[in-house]
Amino acid sequence: MDPYDVLAPVHEIAARDLALARLRREAPIQWDEPNQWWLLTRHADIREVSRHPEAFSSEPKGPWHVAEHRFSMQAMDGPAHLRNRNIVSRGFTPRMVALLSKRARRYAEEAVDALAGRSSGDFVTDLAVPVPLRIIADMLGVADGDFDRFRRLTDAVVGGTNPEAGAGGLAEAAPMIAELMEYFGKKAEERRAEPRDDMLSKIIAASDEGVLEGLPGASGDGLAGFSNDEVKSMAFFLLIAGNETTRNGISQGMLALLQHPDERARLASRPELWETAADEILRWTSPVRAMRRVALHDVTLGHQRIRAGESVVMVYASANRDERVFEEPDRFKLDRHPNPHLALGFGPHYCLGANLAKMEIQATLACILERLPSLRLAPGSEPVFMRSALIDGIDSMPVEW
Ligand code: HEM
Repeated sequence: MDPYDVLAPVHEIAARDLALARLRREAPIQWDEPNQWWLLTRHADIREVSRHPEAFSSEPKGPWHVAEHRFSMQAMDGPAHLRNRNIVSRGFTPRMVALLSKRARRYAEEAVDALAGRSSGDFVTDLAVPVPLRIIADMLGVADGDFDRFRRLTDAVVGGTNPEAGAGGLAEAAPMIAELMEYFGKKAEERRAEPRDDMLSKIIAASDEGVLEGLPGASGDGLAGFSNDEVKSMAFFLLIAGNETTRNGISQGMLALLQHPDERARLASRPELWETAADEILRWTSPVRAMRRVALHDVTLGHQRIRAGESVVMVYASANRDERVFEEPDRFKLDRHPNPHLALGFGPHYCLGANLAKMEIQATLACILERLPSLRLAPGSEPVFMRSALIDGIDSMPVEW
């Protein structure tokens, strides 16, 4: 089968889900010759790979879009990975996230306030972008930045993973990446001179102590536009990871609620459902569609021999519909429990922003359900879906209320 069927954008989702179900049934570990990687579609195999970093490396060594560049902890192994993760991990604990939840709600309220006097808009720009973008900018310490510019720049990076654009997509994104890097360079100079209580200052302190050693680019292997500067790389990754992913969880989550009016009504009248709802939204939407690892030595996975150096692509969107794990996997059920979805990964690279992402999805959608109860898709228009091999997302979604 054409692997692009499996990595297809969400508007082709019905066809894609059928293709994934067939793969799970007939060829759960399938060699994809044109792309030169194994496609993994079963929950158990993806979990197995994720929890064995000693056998399956996250470092860039094979074919798979932007992640050829080791510009973040996500693309590192072993002690270097842990060192980098630990620099910022305290900012993402449940306690820290609980402290941020009031602010997230306020940002959601302000986004709705800004629509006063209007009865239509673009869901993505008006309602899904503000909360994750403002929160991660606060955390990093760049809240005085130009938010429209952040959005354009991070969009361009994700645009670089459009499988149809191939290497051209990346080339197009390069000047935007350079612009963002330059911005972080300036901010880093400011913080070095005058540290504050923000992540950028923490990253700089860690870098000055030599903790970041081993981050990318030291040998000049950076992507065009990336500087060989570990501080900028780390800040850049956090801005993208904290922004592009959750925004799509919110937009896709709203679309799922619009498509399932009974579940939407239940959530609006029973807010306690939020205890399980954000996880079901994540399972259903899998905003990060897939991630890659490379075998460090020959390994047997299932009945399949994977050779050293071969890449495996873990299709989370498939694991999250695996009928071996989920009862009625094709039903959107906000009270699903347990819900061992893999939308946030598994193992040592489990999403650092997991608590934050769920909190932001809840803060934004709960506010919209309360304050814009009649919100609906604008008649005669369609959501515009993102073209990316990495993110299942929505570029724009005209709505009215
Ligand atoms: C709906 C929202 C989100 C989704 C679906 C998501 C998904 C993921 C996934 C699947 C991974 C695992 C990657 C791997 O195993 O290779 C991951 C890692 C990561 N995520 Fe998220 N994420 C989301 C939100 C966030 C937010 C808000 C942040 C905050 C900055 C964040 C920061 C990170 C970081 C730093 C990593 C790398 C962790 C490591 O390598 O140790 N994510 N995310």
